[in-house]
Amino acid sequence: MLILGIETSCDETSVALVEDGQRIVSNSIASQVRLHAEFGGVVPELASRAHIQRLIPMIDETMRDNHAAWTDIDALAVTLGPGLVGALLIGVETAKALAFAKHKPLIPVHHIAGHLYSPFLSGDGAIHKHVIMESSASESVSPLDAANSHPAAALHFPYVGLVVSGGHTSLILVHSPKHFEQLGETMDDAAGEAFDKVAKLLDLGYPGGPLVEKQARTGNRQRFPLPRPMLNQPNCDFSFSGLKTAALKIVRDHGLDKIKQDPQLLSDICASFQEAVVEVLLKKAATALDKSGVDQLAIVGGVACNGRLREAVAQYIPGARVVFPPPILCTDNAAMIAGLAWHHRDQFPKCDLTLNAQANLRLDFQNQNGE
Ligand code: KG4
Ligand code: ZN
Repeated sequence: MLILGIETSCDETSVALVEDGQRIVSNSIASQVRLHAEFGGVVPELASRAHIQRLIPMIDETMRDNHAAWTDIDALAVTLGPGLVGALLIGVETAKALAFAKHKPLIPVHHIAGHLYSPFLSGDGAIHKHVIMESSASESVSPLDAANSHPAAALHFPYVGLVVSGGHTSLILVHSPKHFEQLGETMDDAAGEAFDKVAKLLDLGYPGGPLVEKQARTGNRQRFPLPRPMLNQPNCDFSFSGLKTAALKIVRDHGLDKIKQDPQLLSDICASFQEAVVEVLLKKAATALDKSGVDQLAIVGGVACNGRLREAVAQYIPGARVVFPPPILCTDNAAMIAGLAWHHRDQFPKCDLTLNAQANLRLDFQNQNGE
């Protein structure tokens, strides 16, 4: 069964074709980072406009590049929420119009459930296209990543999912593709948001995660003993705003100008901050594994691209079975949406034209629909 997936919840427009919930045939991602960089964060109105400009050409390209006819497509899938409501609307309304016109079922998917499903996707023979949209001429795109082959992770249900992105940081016990149990979440900032804010404090640019990671590579992780918030509490919740304030104090004490002229100092601040986030994320994930009695952990979402987070698993949670999707599937993508949709195909056999984008969609929304 071939499903065409659409993802527009934030600042990536993505279209994918996935077979039987697992094999990625095609996954195209158009990132708007350059569009939002000069504002230091995502501007919702600009994001919606860019989705409008890119989405239909990307669907056409996906069909053409894969020699797919509409008769080959068995269903459409779309991210219903959560996310920026204007951005979600572009995907949902486009998917509804297409499903109606082509007489296909339309399967709504939860964005975070999609991230949690991403380790199950296999990329063998997949066409991955990752382009960065230019800030001025919307059609000027530059290819970043052509091909990416990888097997599905050896993961089975139940497992603990650590979701770490720009908007979410939570620990979730995943019983099945449809049943989730929230174990803990952040009380304030998300981990990615903390990276982005600290990068802004240091005048590094946007998005901050990859830039902080790059600076941290040559830094001393022990130079600044930053707090490890909530680590001494036996729950699975997080808090990152105090860590950001502690980083702000270091910046104030040294002065931004001095930091910018001293590459080692800048790298040491980045490395110390990154280590605090990584240690808290992994040790809290260990608590979640203990509490749930489950022996597998999947780390998903944009921050899961972080090399130190991947490496530090062996140091902070030795012995745990941990899987990460490849980086192209950690950031927002439609392959995870089309893949998970396959598990919901019986519940959504038609195109429901009353479907509406929901900025705060609950993770268990399918079950509330009477399953
Ligand atoms: O999952 P994602 O692409 O979008 C959301 O759903 O939020 O995550 C984006 C977040 C941003 O905050 C970005 O700074 C962070 O992921 N991120 C990273 C890295 N790459 C992306 N954080 C730390 N290290 C990275 N290498
Ligand atoms: Zn996401």
